[in-house]
Amino acid sequence: MPLVDTHAHLDQEEFDSDREAVINRAHDAGVDAIIAVGVTAASSWAVVDLAARFPGVFAAVGIQPNYAAQAKPEDWQVVVELASRPKVVAVGETGLDRHWDYSPFAVQQDFFDRHLRLSQDRKLPFIVHTRESDADVLEMLREARRRGPLAGVMHSFTGTAETAAACIELGLWISFAGMITFKKSNDLRAVAATIPPQRILIETDSPYLAPHPLRGKRNEPANLIHTATCLAEVRGQSPAEFFAQTTANAQALFRLVA
Ligand code: NI
Repeated sequence: MPLVDTHAHLDQEEFDSDREAVINRAHDAGVDAIIAVGVTAASSWAVVDLAARFPGVFAAVGIQPNYAAQAKPEDWQVVVELASRPKVVAVGETGLDRHWDYSPFAVQQDFFDRHLRLSQDRKLPFIVHTRESDADVLEMLREARRRGPLAGVMHSFTGTAETAAACIELGLWISFAGMITFKKSNDLRAVAATIPPQRILIETDSPYLAPHPLRGKRNEPANLIHTATCLAEVRGQSPAEFFAQTTANAQALFRLVA
């Protein structure tokens, strides 16, 4: 059953020595599609280039909140232009992060707002990163929802069931990464069990967050199977049923066409 890795940083230097092998291993492991996610203007260029070179690789373009402060004025224009390239299926990653102090919060909010407006203008879904900022993210999503419909995903979700429900109500999907497999993640597994079948997605967030039993190693899209299998069990679904559901969900949100 084919899987979709909805979030991987394939352009990062961790993959410089064996990127093609990583993509081949993903295909061999049944991960038929990978969304390569940009975090800066340069990284957005790189993921668009990867999508052009590799079938099954798609791109998301954006400036991640921790990189917002270092973005030059012309960098945003790069994102806007890349958003119309072939195989660009999302805007992001974007969002808010109070954990790291890399970008002033007001700058993060400005960039999150730009991504949300670009998503609405282009009818491209957005990808949200949030760390210790769930209330602030919800507030900005509500404001954007007043302008028009939203389509997006809360990536690598670690929030509460209430936050997940509020995001779903606003039109979002909830994506889980390798943390769901960690021994201590009982609360997160309980949250995952509450997500409606049509609104759940899976991702690796490679090269970060390798799932159990690979924790601490470099993560790669082929490892998605561990997270997917764990989630199926948590939700009381057969792996085949759950895998098919998440793939259909990824298609519904990102409209992946090679
Ligand atoms: Ni990411």
